[in-house]
Amino acid sequence: MAGERRARLVLAVAVFLLVLFVLYPSRSDIRPEGRPASPATDSPKIRFQASSFNWTSVPQRHPVSTIRPLPSGPKTHLHPVQHPFSRYVHGGTTKARQRAVRDAFVRSWDAYKTHAWLRDELAPVSGGGKTTFGGWAATLVDSLDTLWIMGLRDDFYTAAAAAVQLDWASTNDTSLNLFETTIRHLGGLLGAYDLSGEAALLEKATELGDMLYMAFDTPNRLPGFWLSFEDAKQGLQTAGTNDPSASPASLSLEFTRLAQLTGDAKYYDAINRVNDFLERTQNMSKLPGLWPKLINFQDERVDGNSGFTLGALADSLYEYLPKMAAMVGGRSPRFEKMYRAAMAVAEEHLLFRPMLAAEDSHHDILFMGDAYAHADRVDHIPDSQHLSCFAGGMFGLGGKLFRIPEHVAIGERLARGCAWAYSAFPTGLMPEIFTLIPCKSLDGPCPWDETLWQGGGDGQLKKGFADARDPRYILRPEAIESIFLLYRMTGKEDLRDLAWQMFESLMKATETPLANSAIADVTVKGETTKLDSMESFFLAETLKYFYLIFSPPDMVSLDEFVLNTEAHVFRRPA
Ligand SMILES: *[C@@H]1O[C@H](CO)[C@@H](O)[C@H](O)[C@H]1NC(C)=O
Ligand SMILES: *[C@@H]1O[C@H](CO)[C@@H](O)[C@H](O)[C@H]1NC(C)=O
Ligand SMILES: *[C@@H]1O[C@H](CO)[C@@H](O)[C@H](O)[C@H]1NC(C)=O
Repeated sequence: MAGERRARLVLAVAVFLLVLFVLYPSRSDIRPEGRPASPATDSPKIRFQASSFNWTSVPQRHPVSTIRPLPSGPKTHLHPVQHPFSRYVHGGTTKARQRAVRDAFVRSWDAYKTHAWLRDELAPVSGGGKTTFGGWAATLVDSLDTLWIMGLRDDFYTAAAAAVQLDWASTNDTSLNLFETTIRHLGGLLGAYDLSGEAALLEKATELGDMLYMAFDTPNRLPGFWLSFEDAKQGLQTAGTNDPSASPASLSLEFTRLAQLTGDAKYYDAINRVNDFLERTQNMSKLPGLWPKLINFQDERVDGNSGFTLGALADSLYEYLPKMAAMVGGRSPRFEKMYRAAMAVAEEHLLFRPMLAAEDSHHDILFMGDAYAHADRVDHIPDSQHLSCFAGGMFGLGGKLFRIPEHVAIGERLARGCAWAYSAFPTGLMPEIFTLIPCKSLDGPCPWDETLWQGGGDGQLKKGFADARDPRYILRPEAIESIFLLYRMTGKEDLRDLAWQMFESLMKATETPLANSAIADVTVKGETTKLDSMESFFLAETLKYFYLIFSPPDMVSLDEFVLNTEAHVFRRPA
C-alpha cells in the first residue's frame, strides 16, 4: 500500500515535472518576472571567502586628515525620470521580443559556462577563454545583475557563489586598470548585492573596494590610471601627468554606493576629492566648461590638452554628473551645476545636426562630435563614435532630474540619430567611428548639398556619411542604452520598434556557433568577419538594455535605480 502510494506520488511528481518541462523547455529556473526583490535576505545562500591578501593592513603613506561624510545637506528636488506609463499593457509582441533577448543571453552565457568559466572573457569563435582584466572572471561578475533581472536565479546563485570566492591577490598582472575594475567588478558586485541582498556580495565588494582605495594613496590624493600592486605596497604612487579624464573622474557612483552600503565614509571621501578637483578646474581648460580628453592630474592642470569630446577618454566623466545627483538623492548641488555648465558648452561646440539626403530629411536627429580649441578659435570636428551614443541618455536624465525639457528633446534626437546610423549600413549596425557632414545649425533648413558630401567612402556609404573610419562593431551598448532610457523617459512606443530592428540586425551579423562576436566591418553586404571577441559588456549592458526595453516599466525603474557606466543597477536613496 505504502509502495503504491509512493508510486502514485512519483507519478504525480513526474507529470508535474513534465508539465514544467513542456512549459519551459530550455530551463527550469524561471521565476515570475517582476520587480527585483528588495535587499536583506534572512537566509544567505552564498558564503564569503576572504582573499589571500588583506589590503587594509597596508598603511596609507599619504593619509587624509579629515574624512568628508556623505552629503546630508538640504535636498534639492529631483524630478521623476520615468514617463507615467499609467495604462501599460505587457503585450504579446513585447513578450516575444523580451524572450528572444533572454534566449540570446542564455545562449552566450551557457557558452561562457562551458568554455570559459571563471575566465575574463569567452572567445566566441575559437571557444577558449581570455584573460583581459586581471583574471578575476570579468564576464561572470559583470553578468550577475543581468542574470537576476532575467529571472535566471539558479545561474545567478551559482555565479554569485563563485564571485564571492574570488581572490584579488591571485593574478598574473602587476597592476590593474582602476577605471575598468571599478566599473565592471566593483559595480557588478554592488549591483548584484542591491538586487539580491546577499551579504557575501557586499563583503566581496568591500574587500575589492579596499584594494581599489589604495589607488588614492598619492601625494594629492588623486589616483593614477593603473594601480600597481608593488608601488601601492611601498607608497610610491603618484597621479598621472597625461591620463584620460574619464578614468579618475568616473569612479564616483561605485565608491559612493559602497560608502552608503557599508556606512564607511572613506570611500566617498576618496572620490569627493576628485570631484573637488573637477569643480575647481571646470573653467580653466582651453574650452571653459569642458574638461579635455587628457588631464595632468599630478600637477592638477587641465590646460595642456586641446581636444574635447564626449566620446572615448572623456565620456563617463560627463555621464556621472547627473547620475551622481541621483545617487546622493539631490543632497549635493555641485553635480547639477557642473552638468549645466558643461552641457551649455557641449551644445555650442560638440553637438551637431547631420546633413541628410532628401529621402532621410524627415529624421529629426543630432550627433555628438569633437572640438579642438586653438588660441583664437574652436574647430568643430563632425566625427562621431559609437561610444558617444550614451549622450542621448545623459541629456535625457539631466533633463528629467533637473526639469530641463530642452535637454530631454536633445536626448531624444541624439538617441534617434544613433538608431538612424544603425539603419544606414547594410548590416544594420553602426561603425565604431565615422564622419558626417554637419549642418550650419541644430534647427532650421539644411538642404542636401552633393558637393559637400563628395561621395563618401567611394560612393559605397549612405548619403551623409563622409567615412566609416573604424568600421568595426564590437557588441557595444551605447545606442540601445540611450534608446532604452529615452523610451522609459518619453513612453514613445516606436523606440521599441527601433530597438527590435537593432536587435535583429545585431543577432544576424554577430552570431557565431557558440555566442556572439565583435565584427570587423559593418559596411559589408554579405557574411561578416568575426573578430573572436565578446567583451563582458555584451552580457552586462547590451543584452540587459535590450531586455529591459521589452520589460514592464517597473522592472528596474529609473526612479528607483541609477545605472553605472557598465549598466550595473544601484538603488537610489528613498
Ligand atoms: C583585514 O584587516 C583588517 C584590519 O587590518 C580587519 O579589520 C579585517 O577584518 C581583515 N579582513 C579580513 C577579511 O580578514
Ligand atoms: C597565470 O599564469 C599561469 C602560468 O602561465 C597560468 O597557469 C595561469 O592560468 C595564469 N592565470 C591566469 C588568471 O591567467
Ligand atoms: C564656470 O562658468 C560657468 C558659466 O560661466 C558658471 O556658471 C560656473 O559657476 C563656473 N564655475 C566655477 C567653479 O567658477
